[in-house]
Amino acid sequence: MERKWFKELSVYQIWPRSFCDGNGDGVGDLKGVLGKLDYIKSLGVDAIWFSPVYVSPQNDYGYDIADYYNINPEYGTMEDFKAILDGAHARGMKIIMDLVVNHTSNEHEWFKKSAAKDPKYKDYYIWRPGRGKDGKKFPNNWMSTFPGNAWEWNEERGEYYLHLFAVEQPDLNHDNPAVREEVKKVMRFWLDMGVDGFREDVITYISKREGLPNGFPIPVMRGMEHYSPGPNIHKYLMEYRQVVKDYDAFQLGEAPMMTPENALKYITEGKDQQLDMMFQFQHMEADCFMTSYLRTKFNLRKLKKVYRNWQHKLYGVAWNTNYLENHDQPRVISRYGSEKFRVESGKALATLYTFMSGTHFVYQGQEIGMLDYPFKSWDDFVDVATFCAKDIMEKTHLFSAKKVFENCAYAARDNARTCMQWSADANAGFTTGKPWFHVNPNYKEINVEAAEKDPDSILHYYRAVIALRKQYKDTAIYGRYVEKLAGSKKIFAYDKVADDGSVLTVVINMTDKPVSAAAAKKCVPDGAKHLISNYKGFMADELKPYEAHVWYTAKKQ
Ligand code: NOJ
Repeated sequence: MERKWFKELSVYQIWPRSFCDGNGDGVGDLKGVLGKLDYIKSLGVDAIWFSPVYVSPQNDYGYDIADYYNINPEYGTMEDFKAILDGAHARGMKIIMDLVVNHTSNEHEWFKKSAAKDPKYKDYYIWRPGRGKDGKKFPNNWMSTFPGNAWEWNEERGEYYLHLFAVEQPDLNHDNPAVREEVKKVMRFWLDMGVDGFREDVITYISKREGLPNGFPIPVMRGMEHYSPGPNIHKYLMEYRQVVKDYDAFQLGEAPMMTPENALKYITEGKDQQLDMMFQFQHMEADCFMTSYLRTKFNLRKLKKVYRNWQHKLYGVAWNTNYLENHDQPRVISRYGSEKFRVESGKALATLYTFMSGTHFVYQGQEIGMLDYPFKSWDDFVDVATFCAKDIMEKTHLFSAKKVFENCAYAARDNARTCMQWSADANAGFTTGKPWFHVNPNYKEINVEAAEKDPDSILHYYRAVIALRKQYKDTAIYGRYVEKLAGSKKIFAYDKVADDGSVLTVVINMTDKPVSAAAAKKCVPDGAKHLISNYKGFMADELKPYEAHVWYTAKKQ
């Protein structure tokens, strides 16, 4: 498999609003980020992915863009951004931008002009007349991802527009060549400035097939088969690919509902390749049914099956991504680990995914083991998606009011968006002002400053596994995944095997109880070198709660 720089990256994701406030107004900003570049570099990561920093009314916290060419004034200026770009490059780190082009904000000039039927812009969005006698019936029965109907009436234009996300996020019409030229212009603008790649938001949704009522079985996602994927998706992505080809940059597409079989239609290396890699979601469903709002017990075998599938099916032909957290997912220790065994399970989870093949991602706060927020009332939430989920759960009448609240508290994206915990100072050192959102009350114990001082912290462990991933890259990054103890509901074990036969062996007790180490011991080759563990010493007869180990066996001479 061809080696490329972006395959080897560990990427740190910043959700700017909650990362660090540099000017005391309570909102995270670019000055705050600039002051933390050395910290980010100290993790051993080689890139930063910025969730959107562009001008936006923030109805979906930046994923509703009103101007692709300027920075949200709350976050700073283009000069601030350029200082970060230069500062990151000077430290050997790449910068990845979020490219959100399935939709814009309804405050974007394009949308305003489109609503006014300006000849240049009138077909920039997906407008349809209403149906029925009064012309006010929805054009079709598609549902939005933020549940509700996917159409919104626009009085000025006298038509409906499509929004697969919030009402304030009208979908762009990529069937219009002029829209595709706009997208290319945006891409070139940032690439010319020197950014190193794009994470492309719900990019697999950009092509839509006309469709009236249809039989998709899950009402919440009704209509999805018309755009996931749509008829021209590969054509449009290929056009965008040509832009990036002129630069030393890469493309990572976010791809909801993606399977490895379908992913290969986009990311198989070679002349038809449209994206370098994808964010898939299947490994985030080990504690739920399709969406984290429909919670189930954590199921290790379900998780193993997903890794087995993706690691095997892409091996040698396409490239994976590995993440456990982002701004859309609750904190992983609270989901797949144990808050009681926070440090042990945080390290176990770091071990679990860091040595899989694929580009590696760490979300802000994950490296210090931040936890979900203890939500007490509906007033505690701010995310549009949380309220949509509440609404739809209430409408089904399947859940008690208490259960609706519990489901939302468990699944809410708000969990990932609390302020970054830098120190035990007021507001966790995130701001000197009034923070725009909650600071988790556990900040006195869980914060960067405390973690720096504690040699056994999750933070130091992340630094260590990130360094090992690079040091042993022939196995960790490029090796073949060989699952061990596949039937075990308790132990996650695998080998990564390099072309020359060297082996990296990972063994983890993924439960909060001790388990016999007899089976795990058989996975470790004689003479293997012990690289790291979250407990002191080597493996004893029992694996303690969340005990994790990594060994390395060099090729036989
Ligand atoms: C995926 C983004 O990650 C999420 O935060 C956003 O709400 C939707 N796409 C819509 O842009």
